[in-house]
Amino acid sequence: MNFARDKITVVGAGQVGTTVAQLCAYKNLGNVVLIDIVEGVPQGKALDLQESGCLQAFDSLVVGTNDYKDTADSDIVVITAGLPRKPGQSREDLLAINAKIVKSVTEEIMKYSSNPIIILVSNPLDAMVYLAKKVSNLPKTRIVGMAGVLDSARLRTFVSLELDCSLVDVDAMVLGGHGDSMVPMPRYTTVSGIPITELMNQDQIDRLVERTRKGGAEIVALLKNGSAFTAPGASVVKMVEAILHDKKRILPCTAYLEGEYGWSDIFFGVPVKMGIDGMEKIIELKLTDEETVALNKSAEEVKKTCDEVDALLKACGS
Ligand code: APR
Repeated sequence: MNFARDKITVVGAGQVGTTVAQLCAYKNLGNVVLIDIVEGVPQGKALDLQESGCLQAFDSLVVGTNDYKDTADSDIVVITAGLPRKPGQSREDLLAINAKIVKSVTEEIMKYSSNPIIILVSNPLDAMVYLAKKVSNLPKTRIVGMAGVLDSARLRTFVSLELDCSLVDVDAMVLGGHGDSMVPMPRYTTVSGIPITELMNQDQIDRLVERTRKGGAEIVALLKNGSAFTAPGASVVKMVEAILHDKKRILPCTAYLEGEYGWSDIFFGVPVKMGIDGMEKIIELKLTDEETVALNKSAEEVKKTCDEVDALLKACGS
C-alpha cells in the first residue's frame, strides 16, 4: 500500500460501507481499507472497486480484509458495522445488538491505530458514537457521528421538490438526535440565502419537517429489506473530504457536548467546524424558546440511550 496517501478504513462492507469506499476512491481521497466480519465479501468488493479505477480514473488503492492488522495507522475510520433497520423498527431497537458490534470493532481499531478520526454511522447513532468514545478514549475532536448532514440533505431535497427550485441553491440545518425527535430548523433553511419561512406557509413547512423526521423510515418501508445507503454514504464522504482537505466546513454533526446547548456527556447533532483536526469547534446558535424546547426534548431521548450504553458497559465490566 502507498503510505504517502491518507488511509481511510471503512468497517462494514455492506450497503453503506461499500458506498463510502466507492465514493472515497472515486474522489481520490486516499487509500481505502474495507473490512468486514464475513470472509470474502470485503475482498471481493474491494477488488471489484479497484478494477473500476482505470475507468473512473482514480489511483487510490483499495484493499478488502478480515484482519484488523491491515487497518494499522488509519487516518480516518468510518464504522458502518451493524444491523440496519427492518420495516417497523426504530433505530433504538438496534441498540443492544449494534452496541456489541461497535464495542468490539472500536477495540480492534484502537489496537492498530493510535490516533484516528472516527466517524460513526451505525444506529442508533447518538448512542453508538457515545459508546465508541467511551471505548476508544479518543478526544472529542477525533470522534463524531454522521446524521445531520444526511438529515439536512433530506430536508434540502424536499424543499427543492416543494418549491420546484434548484437543489444546489437550497441549504438546510437539522439538529438534535438522529431519531424521530430530530429538530429541523426552518429559520436556518434557505434558498439562495432566503429563509424558507419567507417562501412557504406553515403547513408546507410542517409537512416537510415531518417528512424529514421520518426520512429514514420512508426508505426502509420502500426497500423492505435494509435501509438507506446512497445518501448516507455521500454524507459520510462529505465529512471525510472536509477533514482530509482541511476545508473548515460548517456541517451539522453528532458531537460530544460539554455544556454547549445546556447539555453535557452526550453526543448530539449540532453545527460544527470540520477540518484537519476533526471536529474543531462547536457553534452555539441563539435559539428561540420553541427551538430550545424541541432540542431539549431530543436531548432527553438521546440521554436515555446513552444511559443504556453506560449500563451495558457496566454489565460487561468496562
Ligand atoms: N465487524 C465488522 N463488520 C461487521 C460486524 C463486525 N463485528 N458485524 C456486522 N458487520 C458487517 C456485516 O457483515 C455487513 O456487511 O456490517 C455490514 C452491515 O451492512 P448492511 O447489513 O448492508 O447494513 P447497512 O445498510 O450498510 O447499514 C449499516 O448503518 O445506517 C446504519 O442503521 C444502519 O446500523 C446500520 C449501519
